[in-house]
Amino acid sequence: MVAKNKIRFDGRVAIVTGAGGGLGRVYALELGKRGAKVVVNDFGGARDGSGTGAAGPADKVVDEIKAAGGEAVANYDNVATPEGGAGITKTAVDAFGKVDILINNAGILRDKGLLKMEPENWQAVLDVHLTGAYNVTKPAFQVMRDNGFGRIIMTTSAAGLYGNFGQTNYSSAKLGLVGFMNTLKLEGGKYNIKVNTVAPIAASRLTEDVLPPDLLGKMKPEYVSPIVLYLCSEECQETGKIYNAGAGFYNRAAIMTSPGVVVGDGKKITSVEDVSVAWPNIMDLKGAKEYAQLNDLVLGDLLSALEGKKAPAAGGGGFTSVKEVFDKMPSAFQAGAASGVDVVFQYCVAGEGDWYAEIKGGACTVAAGVHAKPICTLKIAAADYLDLMNGKMNAMKAYTSGKLKIEGDLMKSQLLEKLFKF
Ligand code: NAI
Repeated sequence: MVAKNKIRFDGRVAIVTGAGGGLGRVYALELGKRGAKVVVNDFGGARDGSGTGAAGPADKVVDEIKAAGGEAVANYDNVATPEGGAGITKTAVDAFGKVDILINNAGILRDKGLLKMEPENWQAVLDVHLTGAYNVTKPAFQVMRDNGFGRIIMTTSAAGLYGNFGQTNYSSAKLGLVGFMNTLKLEGGKYNIKVNTVAPIAASRLTEDVLPPDLLGKMKPEYVSPIVLYLCSEECQETGKIYNAGAGFYNRAAIMTSPGVVVGDGKKITSVEDVSVAWPNIMDLKGAKEYAQLNDLVLGDLLSALEGKKAPAAGGGGFTSVKEVFDKMPSAFQAGAASGVDVVFQYCVAGEGDWYAEIKGGACTVAAGVHAKPICTLKIAAADYLDLMNGKMNAMKAYTSGKLKIEGDLMKSQLLEKLFKF
């Protein structure tokens, strides 16, 4: 059990966009109470984003934070412009010297069925939610990267995750933020910048005529701020995830991918009829999983599934020792497949020793020992290497399971299958 008020933000600088009311106000107040210095951004427009802006909403929240003993400054920039985004980070750096936490929260609504959705209503919503998050995050991310610390929150919506009638503009913008997070989590990873996405459900001026009145009373924004603050804290190591939060109910949403199936042999182009026959297998989510990034699908499961379809190479197998494989390697070399290939594969076979294969000018030299400049190094245990060469283990499976480690130019390892036919 964590002691009450143990999670603190002393010394941290937080930006909350759209913090002049609704959810953003509560995030800003709670951060201020727990020691953060807060930039309270709010443009002060109408619910649909119209109007020339007003200082009142941001100023009022700054006063509230100060009255509770916290530190805060107001900023009235419009997140929908690059200048506005830059201005918000500038306010943080000028007032407090840095940015540690960014909550992209500012939002508007312009609901219409698609056929009544005029370009300006489509664009205004994308400008505030999606482009707004880009405008504010880019300069803040630079400061966070320089400091080696960052916590960024994107605000999505159940409308984007699951769909909601009359909100094609809003749903598109909100799910776009999930894509933004998916890539930013990778770009921020090594700088200790964590990026997460929250889909709130709370009573505010945005939802006063959307949610049923009896529910509105239960949906206080104060129920959403605990998870948002937790995700902003130093102790939270989570990144790249999506959460629903409302009325004290919290869960995680994820993009799951089914195991799938190779239709045909992976060589002949699949026909429409083949797809229709395989439909139940394509659709079946049993055994579905979450990918951490694109390569887990493309270089992982997709290649692995295609490999699994292949018959073992003719003449392959039957090796009883690792040395035998390397002895046979020169005669297995396919000079015809090596035109323009200039590469050194270094093999480190644990328990057996090191060999390398140097391919240059259409010729292949195989020797025991360590090459001075390997391009691609493969590390594997002797028994696993024999399984691999005897067709008992699939190369991609060996790689994704960690039995085969590849260092250097990973893509070059894809050539091995073409270059050697045992
Ligand atoms: P709200 O209308 O009370 O607060 C949004 C704030 O953003 C307002 O104070 C507004 O002045 C400010 N804002 C709007 N455009 C701006 C701009 N261009 N630049 C700077 N500030 C701007 O609404 P609420 O409900 O607090 O919404 C906060 C966020 O949560 C929004 O992104 C919204 O889409 C999202 N959300 C809210 C849900 C809810 O149940 N309340 C459901 C799902 C998502």
